[in-house]
Amino acid sequence: MRTHYCGVLRKSHTDQHVALCGWVHRRRDHGGVIFLDLRDHRGLVQVVFHPDAEKAFATADALRSEYVVQLTGRVRERLDGATNPELDTGEIEVVGDSVTILNRARTTPFPLNEYAHPGEDIRLRYRYVDLRRPEMQARLRMRSEVTSCIRRLLEEEDFVDVETPTLTKSTPEGARDFLVPSRTQKSRFFALPQSPQLFKQLLMVAGVDRYYQIARCYRDEDLRHDRQPEFTQIDIEASFVTCEDVMGITERMLVSLFKQVLDVDLGEFPILTYAQAMDRYGSDKPDLRNPLCFVNIDDLVVDCDFGVFQKPARAEGSRVAAINVPGAVALLSRKQLDDLVDYVQEFGAKGLAYIKVNDLHRGFDGLQSPILKFLDEATIAAILERVEAQAGDIVFFGADQNQIVNESLGAFRNRVAELIDLHEDGFKPCWVVDWPMFESDGMTLNPAHHPFTKPNCTPDELRNKPSAQIAYAYDVVLNGYELGGGSLRIHEPEMQRAVFDALQMGQEAEIKFGFLLQALELGCPPHGGIALGLDRLVMLMTHAESIRDVIAFPKTQSATCLLMDAPSEVDMHQLRELGLQAR
Ligand code: AMO
Ligand code: AMP
Repeated sequence: MRTHYCGVLRKSHTDQHVALCGWVHRRRDHGGVIFLDLRDHRGLVQVVFHPDAEKAFATADALRSEYVVQLTGRVRERLDGATNPELDTGEIEVVGDSVTILNRARTTPFPLNEYAHPGEDIRLRYRYVDLRRPEMQARLRMRSEVTSCIRRLLEEEDFVDVETPTLTKSTPEGARDFLVPSRTQKSRFFALPQSPQLFKQLLMVAGVDRYYQIARCYRDEDLRHDRQPEFTQIDIEASFVTCEDVMGITERMLVSLFKQVLDVDLGEFPILTYAQAMDRYGSDKPDLRNPLCFVNIDDLVVDCDFGVFQKPARAEGSRVAAINVPGAVALLSRKQLDDLVDYVQEFGAKGLAYIKVNDLHRGFDGLQSPILKFLDEATIAAILERVEAQAGDIVFFGADQNQIVNESLGAFRNRVAELIDLHEDGFKPCWVVDWPMFESDGMTLNPAHHPFTKPNCTPDELRNKPSAQIAYAYDVVLNGYELGGGSLRIHEPEMQRAVFDALQMGQEAEIKFGFLLQALELGCPPHGGIALGLDRLVMLMTHAESIRDVIAFPKTQSATCLLMDAPSEVDMHQLRELGLQAR
């Protein structure tokens, strides 16, 4: 039906007679001449109909937005002054000589021009209309390019694509499971996989050596802009590897991917330990585009008379940290400062002390701060020296339990950098390594990653002091997002039992994971791997605001599909067959 795509026509096609298909993006009537913007998945092109092409002109006159048409015409260069630099095809236009309406369209629920900003609900309800927008098309194409590039890169490194089941048993990744009732075995349920974790480990026991899969995962958890109930992982596992091997494979893959798809050099990824990341950025996924850093000042204020600082400086598990924001005196308004003080309180901080440095050489007279009266000149001078404050800077403080300081000052660090535009452009990846094996909510221990992660200790040490142990685990972080996480795995049954013991699983360990323990006893090689969130990766690569923008048919924040209206009620008959009853 066509000779060319709309969006690809250029000056080099001048004088060619072309046949095009697509949607009427816009129709304008200009003193007896009709201009159409015709759109397909590759972009827009302008088509002109003159009244002397009588029949075509009459049909063009009847066209409305989003009609589906086929047309023919001759490509010509636009006259000087009529070119459109905004449009890839802006140097040419097509002089139409025939047009056929393939289908009419009612007025769409929202206009598809660049000026319309329809709400997300309506976009999702009519996703097939929303996806016609060139930017959405570009994102889908970029996603396809990313997956094919990743497949190529991994296959060059000898990885084999193996599919694993999606009707399976619970794999613990820290979220709730989606359950699927069995019809053949009443009162029994499959779980949809939270990740292929256990299957990929079993593939290592099976001698596959290097596995990958672009795998769909399901997690019933609270949704955010970077979380969906079903999402896709680039899932990787390899045998006889060290942490450095897996990190190397991942880094090579990401560097080549960004080079090939975006022509961006990611450079070498800096490596931070978990402890360093928390210490310097208050976060296990620091955004390194942001130049601001925490500076510890506990030792400088441990003997001061200001209780707000002195107490946490002395207490175990508490800290006093400062962040120097260069140039902030001129850049932050009084109102913005007050808002920042309110903002940190949302994260549990009791306040946000700060010192404005107007002049470094006039002692107290050069400074402005609500806390000057509580501190002596020498202490303040020592603090300003340590944070390398210059005239015009503001130094902010957080003093509390570690978690509160990390969360509140960490959020402050992001917010203030946004406010005064401190972020560097581009992509800043890093590794966060040496994670604690477990995290505790005060009462129970939970795995910081998952319970198959290998700790850097003996089974006895793990049983005796679980909360002190470090894991062979690594996360790859990009621009403040956890892009992927992985680890070396436990390959010896004794260590796996010790972890289940530390988690106080008792008999449950055998019931839930007996198959794994058995596999570990039947010749399991040392192995490790990683999984990257494909949706997050494409979101970052396309500068989209949410992973919903890079998923063709995403769920809403409340985990529903507005397009098909799922989840939906089912027949009594279907429930009866499954042996279920709705309450
Ligand atoms: P983890 O749970 O860290 O590790 O997941 C790996 C990556 O998957 C992405 N991700 C998500 N993306 C969108 N929506 C979600 N709800 C969601 N949850 C996770 C993130 C995350 O970094 N089996 C282990 C991997 C391993 O150890 O090899 C796992 O699933 O980008
Ligand atoms: P207050 O003595 O509570 O009036 O606090 C004096 C100054 O210290 C105010 O500017 C508060 O915002 C600040 N402040 C209070 N508690 C903290 C805290 N835990 N961390 C940082 N600053 C604080």
